[in-house]
Amino acid sequence: MKRMIIALALLVIGAATGATAQDAPRRHTYLNPDAPIEERIEDALSRMTLDEKIAIIHAQSKFSAPGVPRLGIAEIWCTDGPHGIRPEVLWDEWEQARWTNDSCIAYPALTCLAATWNRQAADLYGVSIGEEARFRDKDVLLGPGVNIYRTPLCGRNFEYMGEDPYLAAQMVVPYVRGVQRQGVAACVKHYALNNEELHRHTVDVDLSDRALYEIYLPAFKAAVIEGEAWSIMGSYNKYRGTYACHNDRLLNQILKGEWGFDGVVISDWGGTHSTIEAIRNGLDMEFGSWTDGLTEGASNAYDMYYMAQPYKQLIASGEVGTEELDDKVRRVLRLTFRTAMNPYKPYGAMCSEEHSAAARYIAEEGIVLLKNESNNLPISADAKRILIVGENAIKMMTVGGGSSSLKVKYEVSPLDGIRSHYGDRAEVIYARGYVGDVTGDYNGVVTGQDLSESRTAEELIAEAVELAKGADHVIFIGGLNKSEKQDCEGADREDITLSYGQDAVIEALAEATDHLTVVFVSGNAVAMPWIDDVESVVQTWFLGSEAGNALARILAGDVNPSGKLPFTFGVKLEDYPSHAEGMTFPNPDKVYYKEDIFVGYRGFEKSRIKPLFAFGHGLSYTTFEYGDLTLSADEIGADETLHATVTITNSGDRAGKEIVQLYIGDNKSSLPRPIKELKGFEKVELQPGESTSVTFAITKEALSFYDDRVGAWCAEPGKFTLYVGSSSADIRLSKAFRLK
Ligand code: GLC
Repeated sequence: MKRMIIALALLVIGAATGATAQDAPRRHTYLNPDAPIEERIEDALSRMTLDEKIAIIHAQSKFSAPGVPRLGIAEIWCTDGPHGIRPEVLWDEWEQARWTNDSCIAYPALTCLAATWNRQAADLYGVSIGEEARFRDKDVLLGPGVNIYRTPLCGRNFEYMGEDPYLAAQMVVPYVRGVQRQGVAACVKHYALNNEELHRHTVDVDLSDRALYEIYLPAFKAAVIEGEAWSIMGSYNKYRGTYACHNDRLLNQILKGEWGFDGVVISDWGGTHSTIEAIRNGLDMEFGSWTDGLTEGASNAYDMYYMAQPYKQLIASGEVGTEELDDKVRRVLRLTFRTAMNPYKPYGAMCSEEHSAAARYIAEEGIVLLKNESNNLPISADAKRILIVGENAIKMMTVGGGSSSLKVKYEVSPLDGIRSHYGDRAEVIYARGYVGDVTGDYNGVVTGQDLSESRTAEELIAEAVELAKGADHVIFIGGLNKSEKQDCEGADREDITLSYGQDAVIEALAEATDHLTVVFVSGNAVAMPWIDDVESVVQTWFLGSEAGNALARILAGDVNPSGKLPFTFGVKLEDYPSHAEGMTFPNPDKVYYKEDIFVGYRGFEKSRIKPLFAFGHGLSYTTFEYGDLTLSADEIGADETLHATVTITNSGDRAGKEIVQLYIGDNKSSLPRPIKELKGFEKVELQPGESTSVTFAITKEALSFYDDRVGAWCAEPGKFTLYVGSSSADIRLSKAFRLK
């Protein structure tokens, strides 16, 4: 009876007010996930006050921006880094918040990803790291980095994808798309020309438009146009006198104008230096000014940000209007609706078996066998005593290096990986060999390792040599270690020679054994004065959580190495074009990139300097033959496509993968061009004796250069040479053709 009366009463009220039970309060368009995103943006914008618009375009904490609480527009949370999801930090500090549920899987550093030359691996990488970011409820992943490896001394090369714009462009796109499929924005960095660390906040870079468009921008352009990146991070340095975080040419003219970027430009942390320039030159979100938010700024530092109260004052004074502000707000809302307020985004995952498997797969695909004399590798199956020498066999490498430092669920060191791989099949003994960096604390992430060592260098070498005499195989594991000037943000290396007396250890070991393998854990080229005395050299990058497992499987031969170098190993520093006569490095103030487009192998080939190991070089435990390169035509029109087909055969006795590389040279051009440039690659897996054919489609884009006399790309008619090979220095076939 009672229910009847209530229902009756409701009916009467409803009738009186015209509302009926089924008329829930109408959801505003901006809250309707099925409404077109642009309509959601306009609806939200129309409801925001000036203060709310100013609030969402700058940080409220170290890594977050406030959204609009009153309207239920979500906060935006950012996280480092390109190799794994950074542990939580305190609201305003770089210091760890010491949570107990934020340990991650560390994936290999991005030079390793580039060294895989495997587009599927880049997709897997993006999906995996994107899932960890999503699970940690992050909306923007501050990565990947794609700055070109101009000099081997740049401290952050390990975070980037090598010296060639085509390779970096091909590898960054799947990574970006994989991350963003998880409802997390990639934030491709550092845009642009961040090619040195020590004076990164002050260096003012200038270069020709050819070098800018042909070398330093392509990876960013691909990330934006093919990758559809939702955000881009401005770099600290200046370009032609104006900071990159608010540089009209880089941001308004090129990024948003020529490339049609509809996402958000986020400053690097502390990269904003001017309110009026930030307003007018295309910055959309300001983070990290005064770095830790409060102590160096006023008590209400976030309100004092360049794009906070100072911006509001310029509007109040009439010096600026609100059209730039509305554009920034639209972009931030678009980012919000793509990520935080995208109800269809997945839930992510953390530290899953799939993520461990992905980390190991990418590591195995990226390890590069540089030298392997008399089949010294893989380690012989009847080796009973294996000696491991070197600090990098035991030192944790998922920490350090700057903002990409991580707190991992686990990390398998090379020594542990090799030991667990061999079990009791062989005795694996260890000698320190040398002492490098014994730090154990990284912004509050404590490794728990005690690397202290009281013995002298001579004693350590004597111990290693003594043990080497009785070992069947000796593996030296050294390189760099992400401590300062050893592949680390904020500082550059001072030379390419190995530190900590490693060369002396290697030379002593070379005397003591005929089965010496040198393994480098690093993200950069190093000099190898002892190269003729060592049987094998393996470049293994900073490999992340699965480092030891991947390395062990390669050394033992369970996995056939298939990586290729994404940058050139020069014999000495002066061989690099950016360190040739008259070049300066590092640069506290102005620097002009005098080597122009001749970066990396482009420069080595121009000056006919033989590298120690060439761009694209990498050996296998099997061999590959290249046969009959055929072209679909011997000339093409400007709008036609040339197809080049080559067959590859595995002529060895075990399965393996080969990265077939296509280079193109312009035989005659009205402006200087490199002898050849990478314009295609395919990684193919072949069983012993198996053959396959690879076809490259070549259009005029692959033949073009940027003509800075007219500010446009152009392909000049005439003769071109097409090179196919196993590295830039190991060309197996070539053919000429003409562009009509
Ligand atoms: C750092 C780095 C950048 C990083 C940011 C946040 O200074 O340059 O790569 O994402 O600040 O840590």
